[in-house]
Amino acid sequence: MKNIKAIIFDAYGTLFDVNSAAEKCKDKIGDKWEGFSSYWRTTQLEYTWLRSLMRRHKDFWQVTEDSLDKSMKAFDINILMRDELLNLYRVLSTFEEVPKTLKTLKEKKFKLSILSNGTHKLLNDLIKNNNLEGLFDDIFSIEEVGIYKPNSKVYEIPLKRYQIKNNEVAFLSANTWDVSGGGNFGYNSIWVNRNNGIFDNLDYKPKYEIKDLNKLISLIS
Ligand code: LAC
Repeated sequence: MKNIKAIIFDAYGTLFDVNSAAEKCKDKIGDKWEGFSSYWRTTQLEYTWLRSLMRRHKDFWQVTEDSLDKSMKAFDINILMRDELLNLYRVLSTFEEVPKTLKTLKEKKFKLSILSNGTHKLLNDLIKNNNLEGLFDDIFSIEEVGIYKPNSKVYEIPLKRYQIKNNEVAFLSANTWDVSGGGNFGYNSIWVNRNNGIFDNLDYKPKYEIKDLNKLISLIS
């Protein structure tokens, strides 16, 4: 890929493993932990889309709490686990290859940033807890525009800051709909297909598909 001026990463699901919170409680939750975790994530995302359509914005932490409450009821999880699950969501782990890939890209002097639904506080806490400080040039949050992905106002945020064009961005997301959102906006979107998934039919096919971030270095250099 040529003429890339910024590499922009989605956060949840792409750099940070959203299932790691429930997984750390799997002994207490039992076999249903995976179904529960997936339901929580899906509900959380649905709430972001619905709130954007209804123009009833609440920040990502409030949406995460609201979706957790519904999911705990749906899966009959003991209410006493609520705080533990939320605290774990604040310190989600990265996927294994993430720290070393970011360090290599940083050494190669690429401009690296995050563009996420998360608030600045949530994202900075995740960065700190995973020892990723100093690797990103900027952390962009949808709170700057008050509407969630995939609204085009979100994808405009880094272009305004960097004074670059949409086709000078390499955008990485594991979330197919976010790949489509960025791609329809004009980014070079790369799908990080971590779970051998099927891509969406939303008028965009990813420029590249990679299994994890290891391949990114050779794609971009
Ligand atoms: C984010 C969600 C899409 O980080 O995962 O923006």
